[in-house]
Amino acid sequence: MVKDKTNILVVFYSMTGNVASLAKAVAEGAGSVKDTEVRLRQVEELVPKEKFTEAMKKVIEELKDIPIATMDDLEWADGIAFGTPTRYGNMSAQMKQYIDRTGGLWLRGALENKVAGIFTSTSTQHGGQETTIITSMVPLFHLGMIIVGIPYSEQRLFSIDPVSGGSPYGASSVSGPNADRMPLENDLEIAKTLGRRIAEISKKINNA
Ligand SMILES: Cc1cc2nc3c(=O)[nH]c(=O)nc-3n(C[C@H](O)[C@H](O)[C@H](O)COP(=O)(O)O)c2cc1C
Repeated sequence: MVKDKTNILVVFYSMTGNVASLAKAVAEGAGSVKDTEVRLRQVEELVPKEKFTEAMKKVIEELKDIPIATMDDLEWADGIAFGTPTRYGNMSAQMKQYIDRTGGLWLRGALENKVAGIFTSTSTQHGGQETTIITSMVPLFHLGMIIVGIPYSEQRLFSIDPVSGGSPYGASSVSGPNADRMPLENDLEIAKTLGRRIAEISKKINNA
């Protein structure tokens, strides 16, 4: 099916801003592909308001103009980038809840053959970026999505100094013990590469 426009959804959860920063870079990368429309969306917060920390309140205020993702956004998209902070080596409950609402879409096969990629952030260097990204792929396979990573033609994946994110599985960053070490330029460029790749492959599939 030939389409004149490729739709890319970048959907994320971010409690302290790191994944949000990566999400904006993924969206920028996707938007750099000709004839691509990008929607940047966040998933619903599950933490009760009375438990919000000052750091959370600040980020919520900063992100208040980014709409909450719906199921329609998933259906609209040809390609989807999912961003979540690492929670004990897995995706966050907030992102899992969003994915767990796709039962109706799953039943209709509505997400089959859409392209997907994943990005995350951890506080520690070996705190589970790769496990989070790979385990996040599992439900996406059930939904029939075509999952893409980042090949080593993205030379920044070879960078080891300073400590940075990015792997063949997806984009990432290391935020430090206080979650305040925002993604480095290297991380953001790798995130742009992921967005670009999702958009380019979605476009190819649309035009196949
Ligand atoms: C409950 C919880 C579990 C976490 N689990 C991990 C973990 O397994 N490994 C790790 O390195 N960081 C872990 N973190 C830290 C966050 O993944 C990290 O601060 C991340 O950069 C936050 O992203 P954000 O700023 O977009 O919210 C955890 C944080 C919380 C609150």
